[in-house]
Amino acid sequence: MFAVQFDRFGGPEVLHLGTADVPEPRAGEIRVRVRAAGVSPVDAGLRSGSTPMSARLTLPHIPGVDAAGVVDAIGDGVAGVAVGDDVFGLVDVATLGGASAEYAVLQMWAPKPAAVPWTQAGAAGTSVETATRALDRLDLRPGMTLLVDGAAGGVGSMAVQLAAAREVRVIGTARAGNHDFLTGLGATPVAYGPGLAGRVAARTVDRALDVAGAGSLPDLIALTGDPAAVLTLADFTAREHGVRLSMGRLAGEPDGRHGLSAAAELFTQGRFAVPVEAVFPVEKAADAHRAIERGSRRGKLVLSLEQDRQAARSSPR
Ligand SMILES: NC(=O)c1ccc[n+]([C@@H]2O[C@H](COP(=O)([O-])OP(=O)(O)OC[C@H]3O[C@@H](n4cnc5c(N)ncnc54)[C@H](OP(=O)(O)O)[C@@H]3O)[C@@H](O)[C@H]2O)c1
Repeated sequence: MFAVQFDRFGGPEVLHLGTADVPEPRAGEIRVRVRAAGVSPVDAGLRSGSTPMSARLTLPHIPGVDAAGVVDAIGDGVAGVAVGDDVFGLVDVATLGGASAEYAVLQMWAPKPAAVPWTQAGAAGTSVETATRALDRLDLRPGMTLLVDGAAGGVGSMAVQLAAAREVRVIGTARAGNHDFLTGLGATPVAYGPGLAGRVAARTVDRALDVAGAGSLPDLIALTGDPAAVLTLADFTAREHGVRLSMGRLAGEPDGRHGLSAAAELFTQGRFAVPVEAVFPVEKAADAHRAIERGSRRGKLVLSLEQDRQAARSSPR
């Protein structure tokens, strides 16, 4: 099969299209013929070698943790899905990649409603799972107010919509140019950065979710009045502040499938969408990584594989 890959750590230029063996699904997994694959900050960090997780990779490595496609093989013990079904989801988190290829193995998935574009479905998996996990842990109830710091990005834009669907009022932070985007997602926008607590009326915030990891935890504690009401996904100083850091599913928690299914259902009801800032043909994966490294965005970046399947096959390394 063809696959985006890198065989040394470095800048986006280390990415190239090559060939790889078609992966086999293990028990509990499925394989899809990929139609679209998300591009996330974690992919760029792994490729650059800047994250400790890079040491776990075997090179060459195929980046990408999210994909949507058509089921083409089914591992032992899998029920409720058939060859030919359209699905979207996440690769095995332990492999840290594999999605930006002609075929990919998914460990967690949900049926893709026909109305959901492939590009939106391909980018949804990790961000929906992460946002759902965070909202569940924050024990949100209808009528509460949630502040999302870093609301315009991949995880933040999903968290805003999924919280609004729980009848929660959402305040979201973003750069000024993204405030209209947040309003469209259903959040009241406010600027991020120093002085955040002063820009939001205290005691109007019941819960706070830090997606950005940009040093806002003292402000978020001041706004909620309780470190236990704050959750971060990206600030590794959390413990110093008495704040919970969520890096994955805890024992006893449901896996992310319920979040994927719920998001798909909300999509068909017209209450959820995956904001896609840009779609790149698969042979332009390096450009997608350059874009993800620029930081500011509206939602997700995606690689489209379908219309480029023939081009990718004939593209030189
Ligand atoms: N713990 C987990 O399980 C988990 C899972 C997935 C991701 N993550 C982490 O979560 C973080 C966000 O991921 P993502 O995919 O949503 O990234 P993303 O799509 O790149 O979005 C990042 C957002 O951060 C915002 N931002 C930049 N500077 C900021 C600041 N000083 N204060 C507040 N917001 C700021 C940007 O907003 P503007 O565009 O408005 O400038 C941007 O939209 C990453 O660090 C990622 O590694 C954690």
